Amino acid sequence: MFSFLILFPILSTLSASTPLADSLGSRSTDGYNIYAVLVAGSNEYYNYRHQADVCHAYQVLRNHGVPAENIIVMMYDDIANNTENPYPGKIFNAPNGPDVYAGVSKDYIGDEVNPDNFLGVLRGDKDLAAKGKKVLTSGPNDHVFIYFADHGATGSIGFPTGILSSNDLNEALVYMHNNKMYGKLTFYLEACESGSMFENILPDNINVYATTAANSIESSWGCYYDPKIGTALGDEFSVAWLEDSDSHDLTKQTLEQQFMDVVKHTNKSHPQQFGQKSLNSLAVGQFQGEKTSSRIHAPKGYLRDSINVRDLPLVILRRRIKRTKDDDEVFFLEKTLQTLIAGRRFLESSIKRIVSQLCSNGYCSDAKQVMKTRQPLINHSTYSKVVKKFQSSCLNLGIHTHGMKFMYVFANLVESNHFNESTLNRFLEDLERACKTFIANHGFEVII
Ligand SMILES: *[C@@H]1O[C@H](CO)[C@@H](O)[C@H](O)[C@H]1NC(C)=O
Ligand SMILES: *[C@@H]1O[C@H](CO)[C@@H](O)[C@H](O)[C@H]1NC(C)=O
Ligand SMILES: *[C@@H]1O[C@H](CO)[C@@H](O)[C@H](O)[C@H]1NC(C)=O
Ligand SMILES: *[C@@H]1O[C@H](CO)[C@@H](O)[C@H](O)[C@H]1NC(C)=O
Repeated sequence: MFSFLILFPILSTLSASTPLADSLGSRSTDGYNIYAVLVAGSNEYYNYRHQADVCHAYQVLRNHGVPAENIIVMMYDDIANNTENPYPGKIFNAPNGPDVYAGVSKDYIGDEVNPDNFLGVLRGDKDLAAKGKKVLTSGPNDHVFIYFADHGATGSIGFPTGILSSNDLNEALVYMHNNKMYGKLTFYLEACESGSMFENILPDNINVYATTAANSIESSWGCYYDPKIGTALGDEFSVAWLEDSDSHDLTKQTLEQQFMDVVKHTNKSHPQQFGQKSLNSLAVGQFQGEKTSSRIHAPKGYLRDSINVRDLPLVILRRRIKRTKDDDEVFFLEKTLQTLIAGRRFLESSIKRIVSQLCSNGYCSDAKQVMKTRQPLINHSTYSKVVKKFQSSCLNLGIHTHGMKFMYVFANLVESNHFNESTLNRFLEDLERACKTFIANHGFEVII
């Protein structure tokens, strides 16, 4: 498939220390093994789709020959047996599709699905390993595939009760590179504003190729709403790559071709590529397995029915209300919907108040302008500190996911203020004070 001449310049610069024969290998017998980390960052039934995507990813890798012992799965595991699931013990990633839950290994479940454990897995953390938990044990030639699906915000992605910042994620990737934990690494990321996890931060010379569901300022989209299951079964970008891998010979399909196919099938957001883009001339099989297989297929011709994931909780409730005949059930759903809308209104006005307060503290002149503009995030390390302060003193964004929608305002403030250490510390104190005044005691169970 690849001409030697095209491949050689890429590989010789990437892995100067490995013998060329190894670098050119496209099979696990030629010097590398494939390792994978698959993470669903959410819980709760209305987020069904993230665990469905991740289970499907597990099937893709297994069907294409990646050994089970090399795959690490983090998923809350509250979907298959959820009381709302009309098909107990099963999870689907497409309407009338096959069960994708069967056989999936669950290495981290429940509260173990958190940012620290994820970073520990990536770094091959010895304490986790000593506790019998699986961590990456990959070496200098190995190929690592990481797939993550959940909610996202400017420079952050969600976990069931926490968030991970772009700064901490990219530091872990650099650590892996410095500690020779991979030869090449590919990262597929499904989340809102997912481009902001890598834009202006992922180095382009550490053999990492990343692709994201959305650019840095837009939502990603869910799809395959199933009326009987009562939720969206997948996400546009994820379903696009998963179905692409299901239906191709992965020794022939390159990462670039997969990316182009995914762009074609992701109607509502703009998938992006980051990092060492030249890696995209490699075969997908070098990261997802090379065995020929076409086992899992979504039924052809299904309308994807894309839904903006920021609106999804409302859309799900409205569709359920329409379908339900039971009056008590309708009453309950209506009440849930009204509470949800009230939480969102409260949050939006609270963010405005916080920004106004910060403007009166001297960090901005026009609160409306701060809410209305979007400056590109450049200073990820400073922004990460601000997000952590917001997380600890305003709102837990892992639980109250609607808050993620507003994090861009803090990126705006970070970028327009050019803080030094002392001004940053003062800002963090002022932010904490504003948070305590305007949000902390909100009284909503969840704001989603
Ligand atoms: C789901 O229910 C089945 C049958 O009761 C049980 O065997 C399985 O362990 C349960 N799984 C989880 C994740 O609770
Ligand atoms: C994308 O949008 C076009 C036009 O709206 C539609 O025909 C097509 O079915 C959509 N594709 C998917 C995968 O949803
Ligand atoms: C930080 O910036 C402020 C305001 O621009 C300035 O007054 C202060 O001297 C700076 N502090 C340091 C340590 O550079
Ligand atoms: C980010 O901001 C910090 C101060 O908070 C500053 O020391 C650092 O130089 C900035 N980095 C970049 C890349 O601008």
